[in-house]
Amino acid sequence: MRIISSLEVSAVEQFNNMSLVGSWIFVLTIGCILKNSPLGYISIPLMKSAGRTTLDNLQRERRSTVELQNYDNLQYTGEISVGTPPQPFTVLFDSGSSILWIPAAACVGGCEMHSMFDAQSSSTYNHSSKTVSIQYISGGVQGVAAYDNVQFGGMTVSNQYFLLANTTSRMFENLFADGVLGLSPGYKECHADCSILKSMKEQNLIESEVFSFNVCKEKSVAELYIGDHELGEEKSKTTLPLMNNTNSWLFELSKVTVGDGIVCSRSCEAIVDTGTSLILGPSEEVKKLHELIGCKVTYYNENSIPGIHPSCRTRGKLQNVTFDTGEHSFVLTPDMYLSDCTADHCFIGILEHLNNFGSLGYSTWIFGDLIISEYVTTFDAANRSVTFTDC
Ligand SMILES: *[C@@H]1O[C@H](CO)[C@@H](O)[C@H](O)[C@H]1NC(C)=O
Ligand SMILES: *[C@@H]1O[C@H](CO)[C@@H](O)[C@H](O)[C@H]1NC(C)=O
Ligand SMILES: *[C@@H]1O[C@H](CO)[C@@H](O)[C@H](O)[C@H]1NC(C)=O
Ligand SMILES: *[C@@H]1O[C@H](CO)[C@@H](O)[C@H](O)[C@H]1NC(C)=O
Ligand SMILES: *[C@@H]1O[C@H](CO)[C@@H](O)[C@H](O)[C@H]1NC(C)=O
Repeated sequence: MRIISSLEVSAVEQFNNMSLVGSWIFVLTIGCILKNSPLGYISIPLMKSAGRTTLDNLQRERRSTVELQNYDNLQYTGEISVGTPPQPFTVLFDSGSSILWIPAAACVGGCEMHSMFDAQSSSTYNHSSKTVSIQYISGGVQGVAAYDNVQFGGMTVSNQYFLLANTTSRMFENLFADGVLGLSPGYKECHADCSILKSMKEQNLIESEVFSFNVCKEKSVAELYIGDHELGEEKSKTTLPLMNNTNSWLFELSKVTVGDGIVCSRSCEAIVDTGTSLILGPSEEVKKLHELIGCKVTYYNENSIPGIHPSCRTRGKLQNVTFDTGEHSFVLTPDMYLSDCTADHCFIGILEHLNNFGSLGYSTWIFGDLIISEYVTTFDAANRSVTFTDC
């Protein structure tokens, strides 16, 4: 099973003429102490990518399982421009990674179909001698570290660090965007100046390193707010502290349950990733979750998406899945975790991840759009917290 996930696994930067042994690994530090006057926030309209790829379509078009990568692949994209004069790009606004990248003019791999950046025609472009390689769960990107002006939401971030990619994985062919704008304070190794939020704060464009995804599913507009933004004071909200020793949007879960059955009760944690479509969890625990759900889980075909027979749904035999933080329970009812039902199959939007993201640990759940679209989610880098406000 392969679902696009832009959760960043690592980002390594090195000088061109150095061997891997001598490569530089930077750890991003967050929390600027600059005191700025209140500057409000900026608002960026987001596009939700085109509708779901249904099983029906897949069968009709005789697509391979590889193309199932596109399944239910909601991506939140928006417009930015880079350089002087500005060159426009569509980017995925991604809380699961920390670096902005766009394709270079000579980019090969999955970037041919996308807009590419012509560095030579930008008067503010600054080249560096460092190469950067980012590994996401679903693929990788390589290129050179560069600096240029980045514009979005009516603001210009000067001399912003970004990766000018000359090679990307084929997976990026499926991206509804040209590149990715990472909004994580730096999950792992990240050059100290890669955070665009940090640049914006330092350049007095925003008051604090906060952003909110307002992608509530019942609303027709999706928006990203960057900078402090007052969100419905009367609404119910839960603020969860980030785990210690992490620079990603990772918080602790007290337990994960299905009905009365326990799936995870210690060292459970979740990361909020706006670039992941569904909910991904550790293999063993997702298997257990499927066993407890109240219906036999089958696979559409090998390496494919798990599902159940729709009769279980109509007979009301299905259990809720609950992610509990102690303070707040994220309850997923069958209506929320099932989708694309046909006469004999409903997909379950809770899937195994590939267990290959190192220090994140074994019991990391990835909260993708399935949860994000139920709340306004505020990411606060200075306060090291994630707040979920009712839609
Ligand atoms: C390019 O980088 C150099 C060295 O860091 C800096 O002095 C210069 O101002 C930068 N140029 C632009 C256009 O930002
Ligand atoms: C991409 O850039 C790196 C660093 O400049 C270089 O080593 C590599 O050959 C380039 N790859 C392509 C496909 O141009
Ligand atoms: C900061 O996070 C804590 C939880 O760690 C929360 O109680 C508090 O309200 C947050 N402060 C702000 C200003 O959001
Ligand atoms: C982080 O460490 C502090 C001090 O040891 C502790 O009180 C706090 O509960 C920890 N926070 C989390 C989210 O684990
Ligand atoms: C599942 O959760 C919903 C919403 O919280 C609740 O109304 C329903 O009773 C729950 N179902 C079961 C079987 O616990």
